[in-house]
Amino acid sequence: MPADITAKTALCGIVLHPAGHTRSPRMHNAAYAAMGIDAAYFAFDVMPAALGSAMAGIRAMGLEQVAISLPHKVAVMEHLDEIDERARRIGAVNTVSVRDGRLLGTNTDWIGATRALETRTELAGKHAVVLGAGGAARAVVYGLIEAGATVEVLNRTVERAEDLAKDLGAQGAGPLARISELPHDILINTTSVGLRSDATPVSVQHLRADSVVMDIVYDPEETRLLADARSCGALPIGGKWMLVHQAAEQLRIWTGRDAPINVLEKAFSASAGN
Ligand code: ATR
Repeated sequence: MPADITAKTALCGIVLHPAGHTRSPRMHNAAYAAMGIDAAYFAFDVMPAALGSAMAGIRAMGLEQVAISLPHKVAVMEHLDEIDERARRIGAVNTVSVRDGRLLGTNTDWIGATRALETRTELAGKHAVVLGAGGAARAVVYGLIEAGATVEVLNRTVERAEDLAKDLGAQGAGPLARISELPHDILINTTSVGLRSDATPVSVQHLRADSVVMDIVYDPEETRLLADARSCGALPIGGKWMLVHQAAEQLRIWTGRDAPINVLEKAFSASAGN
């Protein structure tokens, strides 16, 4: 947050409901300070019924960019002037930039996932298993396929996994239990299993020592799945890295500059429990 807000200070934010737990204001404001950008970032708690008027307000008041989070990532699409091809394929928008009074939608979740993975492993030619078939899974699967990995989608509700796989071009789909028979280099949990609990979507005997395991659950920072991955010799990647890298991409889209990953990561961890 700039110490001195003036008429020139740019306004950005995140639109979501409920808003209580988002760490995005801390992350983006810390990045603005580090990058010397005169801007302020707020959380806007918008009820679903008010989304259209909120987006009209964002346009009218000249905000520069807003992140879109749950539960608005799909519903926001009907309130935008343009949606890029990637966000269309994923079926969700998490970033809206305002240019010349036009609302332009894109998606940076898939980039967040692939960048977080690419810090630890190559993706081209790798075999990945994605657990879950919701909106987060769609962004992750899209990113993996873009990067040249082959993907199997496993989900509690198999039909959703099949639909997702067909839609995005994943190699296969099945029930969660199929993990026991699937050789893989990369495993990603996109289900909510493990969120503020000690549960895990995969029992430890199905984890592979030579694999990379990413959990998009970030609370707790080390989930049971990641602790099990570490203990069996696999490489764990916490969900915060996906959030950090998708935020960095939002900053890059807005400013044209690389954002400081370490600043975003520190702000994320420092705001735990807020
Ligand atoms: P998001 O858009 O955030 O990904 P979502 O669409 O609600 O959220 O998807 C949540 C995912 O977690 C789904 O894959 C869901 O499985 P179903 O499609 O069978 O509902 C999965 N999930 C949630 N709770 C689960 C549980 N207890 N066990 C296994 N999978 C679970």
